[in-house]
Amino acid sequence: MSKTIAILTGGGDCPGLNAVIRGVVRSAILKRGWKVLGIEDGFDGLVGQPRFRTLDLASVRGILPRGGTILGTSNRGNPFQYPREIDGKETLVDVSDEVVQNFRAIGADALIAVGGDGTLKIARALNERGIPVVGVPKTIDNDLRGTDVTFGYNTAVGIVTEALDRLHTTAESHQRVMVVEVMGRDAGWIALESGLAGSADVILIPEIPFDLGKVCQAIRQRSAAGSRFSIVVVAEGAFPAGGDKVTQLSAEQNLGVERLGGIGQFVSHHIRQCLDMEVRTVVLGHLQRGGTPSSFDRILSSRFGVKAVELVEQGSFGNMVALRGREVVAVEIEKAVGALNLVDPEGDLVKAAEDLGVMMGR
Ligand code: F6P
Repeated sequence: MSKTIAILTGGGDCPGLNAVIRGVVRSAILKRGWKVLGIEDGFDGLVGQPRFRTLDLASVRGILPRGGTILGTSNRGNPFQYPREIDGKETLVDVSDEVVQNFRAIGADALIAVGGDGTLKIARALNERGIPVVGVPKTIDNDLRGTDVTFGYNTAVGIVTEALDRLHTTAESHQRVMVVEVMGRDAGWIALESGLAGSADVILIPEIPFDLGKVCQAIRQRSAAGSRFSIVVVAEGAFPAGGDKVTQLSAEQNLGVERLGGIGQFVSHHIRQCLDMEVRTVVLGHLQRGGTPSSFDRILSSRFGVKAVELVEQGSFGNMVALRGREVVAVEIEKAVGALNLVDPEGDLVKAAEDLGVMMGR
């Protein structure tokens, strides 16, 4: 039976979003002859006058290698806490009824929601409100449960690794300590894996509160042994033992999501105090999620898109697609959201880093 399916991308942009959209459109049209509607700017596109367009084969031509999302996205459009101006004041209101009505009005049978923890929580709640939803897990942070890996993560690790290779040049030539702040929110995956790939000397992650005295000691020992430079990778969510994360905006100031940033400067400042070395800070920021996806992410995103359509066909709603081992499977969205997938401080990856001589802040 012919179907009309809608797709939206929510939360921060991420390499591979376009590959998912392409995978959905091509498998829905080529294999099933269905119609696909692209909702613009995440759930925002279903608030007020619906904003959407038909996605045909031509509209997804050439987008596989493109970063970002052709549909646009928003991480400010939670329909259950939607910012509206009431009496001149920004107030958060529940507009989910409007979203459900708009979804019905555009004539879609199912919704594929591509996003991270926030988007998938909204998707699960809308599924309970009657919108048949299939989720696709996205985030460079790799902090979602239920899947071995999210798409976008592999690309981000590649970008940071390349940056570390480049920063080695300056660090070595000028005998500097380079402190590199990377993204990841409360998960240390990007810092740990790119730090390993880029041969960082110190890696600081949120899962292991760090001791600055020990960090300085490790850098001093390296200098004494003849390596007069060091590369320190610090995850944006890392914090000193007994201290706090460094934020630019609190959750209250930023519609429920705290904006991290600044820990790189904090660590640099303290290393400068304890060592007589030139210390520089590099914040990689949004470079980590911009540009073309890696081959791994292009393939994973395409497979996720294809599987999401298959789940719609099977009526397998309230689920998201996930990579388990080498297979793309369905798991309940419920199992993926809420608690985060964090680095195990006693796990094999951290152990490998420490056995390789990387200082993990403890
Ligand atoms: O979740 C992806 C991510 O890039 C995080 O690593 C980072 O903390 C956050 O989004 C930044 O979000 P924004 O672009 O809204 O500042």
